Amino acid sequence: MTQNSLFPISENVMQKLRKELGVKSLSFCTIRQIVQLVNRLQEFSGESFIRTEMGVPGLKAPKEGVLAEIAALNEGVASVYPPIEGRRELRTELSRFVKLFLDVEISPNSCVPTVGSMQSSFVTFMVANKRDKKKDTTLFIDPGFPVHKRQIAVQGMKYESFDIYNYRGDKLRDKLESYLEKGNISTFLYSNPNNPAWICFTDKELKIIGELANQYDVIVMEDLAYFGMDFRHNYGAPGKPPHQPTVARYTDNYVLLFSSSKIFSYAGQRIGSLLISDTLFNKSYPDLGAVFNSDRFGTAILQDALYSTTAGTAHSAQVGLTALLKAVNDGDFDFRSYVKEYGDRAGIMKKHFLNNGFKLVYDKDEEHDVADGFYFTVSYPGMTGEELLGQLLRFGISAITLDTTGSSRSEGLRICVSHTPLDRMDELGRRLQHFSAVNTPGARAI
Ligand SMILES: Cc1ncc(COP(=O)(O)O)c(C=O)c1O
Repeated sequence: MTQNSLFPISENVMQKLRKELGVKSLSFCTIRQIVQLVNRLQEFSGESFIRTEMGVPGLKAPKEGVLAEIAALNEGVASVYPPIEGRRELRTELSRFVKLFLDVEISPNSCVPTVGSMQSSFVTFMVANKRDKKKDTTLFIDPGFPVHKRQIAVQGMKYESFDIYNYRGDKLRDKLESYLEKGNISTFLYSNPNNPAWICFTDKELKIIGELANQYDVIVMEDLAYFGMDFRHNYGAPGKPPHQPTVARYTDNYVLLFSSSKIFSYAGQRIGSLLISDTLFNKSYPDLGAVFNSDRFGTAILQDALYSTTAGTAHSAQVGLTALLKAVNDGDFDFRSYVKEYGDRAGIMKKHFLNNGFKLVYDKDEEHDVADGFYFTVSYPGMTGEELLGQLLRFGISAITLDTTGSSRSEGLRICVSHTPLDRMDELGRRLQHFSAVNTPGARAI
């Protein structure tokens, strides 16, 4: 086993750099602070780390989108305000996409381009959480993406949350009802596949969520940032089953948060969309009239929430996304094959972790093993997540702990595969072997 002599980096160096960067806790600092710390550790060691901390795309954006954007800019779109409701041809392709890949009908009018899925959730909170004075609280089915809770906080709203870890399958119903009985829950939010745990809700669970949304008039915010990336199934063939599972099959009380960032590696262009059920789009809620110009859900989203935040989203990014969706819808671009490498990487990386004494934290979707995809979660016997991250950093591997994600599993780390190409897998294996040789019980003295 060849090992770099600089690993493990000494505790003294770690402490010195953490002090310099103000990193008191590795669990509760921001991801950006971890990034800074890893940059400094790389400078110190002269070694490139296996970087798994950031959930960012690791593939090149497809040329279909980029070339369409360049052409649109050359034609002069930059000087023209985009329509708030989005360009017609993008809305049409979004509606087609929903039909072809989810087998759900949403008319183009209810498909709204946004400045990324981040804006989709922000404006949905803004409207949905004000539609009924008695219902002012979002329930997060965690673990989740911490920024969503920031969106609630900066809008002065309330949330409750629980970790789904112990409430899979039928147990989910009672758990959800224990919150719903109080009558204050306005919206549910979960991501599927899930960031950070990469669990995927089963149809049984989605049905429970949909039925309870109907019964208690809750709007379900289904975050599809990792659309089709449960690679155990082929959700990538237009118009052919199986389709990406969705709560939209069980309720009309939903919005889907669609992102181009991961399926098209389009994160930099800040373009996504809000796919609102037609029934919800057209529904009126008297309490909305107190804040918004219209009491109709869809109009409040478009004419107040979107208008008062960004007044629409850039033409060129819309043109790029239109081109990508059209290619996918027409069967000319297979988005699943394009992102599938993430699953291949996860399969290998998980093996390296498991071979070296690690365990998967979120390991099952009911009785099935979780899929290989963009993220997975690991723990190491006898260590908290904070301790484990502190140790892994010394061996040239970065990650984040689960503490800020609403997970109850304080032993866990999230590993993102996007920046570990296949040609670095052996190196990951060697570093993990080195880590486990030093950290097996009785050997931890350095
Ligand atoms: C679960 C989840 N939702 C939303 C987003 C943000 O998506 P977008 O880049 O479209 O704003 C991310 C990005 O990492 C995510 O992981």
